Amino acid sequence: MKVVVANWKMNPATPREAVKLARAEDKLKVIVAPPFPFLEDVGRVLKRATLGAQDAFWISRGAYTGEVSVQQLKRLRVSYVIVGHSERRAQGETNGMVRKKVEAVHAAGLTPILCVGEPWPVRKKGFAAAKRYVARQLHAALSGTRKKLIVAYEPVWAIGSGKADSPAEAAEMADFIKELLIVSYRSSVKVLYGGSVTPRNARAFLKARALDGALVGGASLRPRDFTKIISAINVANR
Ligand code: PGA
Repeated sequence: MKVVVANWKMNPATPREAVKLARAEDKLKVIVAPPFPFLEDVGRVLKRATLGAQDAFWISRGAYTGEVSVQQLKRLRVSYVIVGHSERRAQGETNGMVRKKVEAVHAAGLTPILCVGEPWPVRKKGFAAAKRYVARQLHAALSGTRKKLIVAYEPVWAIGSGKADSPAEAAEMADFIKELLIVSYRSSVKVLYGGSVTPRNARAFLKARALDGALVGGASLRPRDFTKIISAINVANR
């Protein structure tokens, strides 16, 4: 079954708005990832959708100012954790840190949504270069896991830019990622596409056989748009 992740990033401003948005997005096959301060309120509202977090630290407790552990998230009924989003990597998160986070999420029995994707200077060199870049990120982040894993292929240049990748290339990358992981890790993996997914292009991404869903940022803050994306998922799941 295909899924859609609503990555709210650092939005909305108040718990009240968060609860309202959560009610509008509370559908099966949806993973809602609000900012940390709203996890508890949103978790209380969701009946059909599943709760996700946008990050987690790899150590369970201690003197780590500003960090949030997977165990703390688990107590708030979080089931999925986005790891290695390009916006976090831009803040200095390395492949080594991403790997520790993936391991910690798995060790706690939750499912990581591991984000990978090439920046524009790499893609400019061609699709083969983008594949090599993504392969390196995957090898660096994964240690032969057989546990449940979601990979979100998000070309950095497509995130928040209004310029989505083509569904055909996103699907080709998804196939490439699956082959790579089956050979090296023997894990069954879902691959999502993320980067400027809108109601207009969602159907094309979601109907691609190789793609198991979408990770949606901007459009997940607009309930009308997001509802249309959810209907595209329902059509694809039929
Ligand atoms: P976007 O964000 O849909 O606004 O491009 C995608 C993401 O969260 O990476």
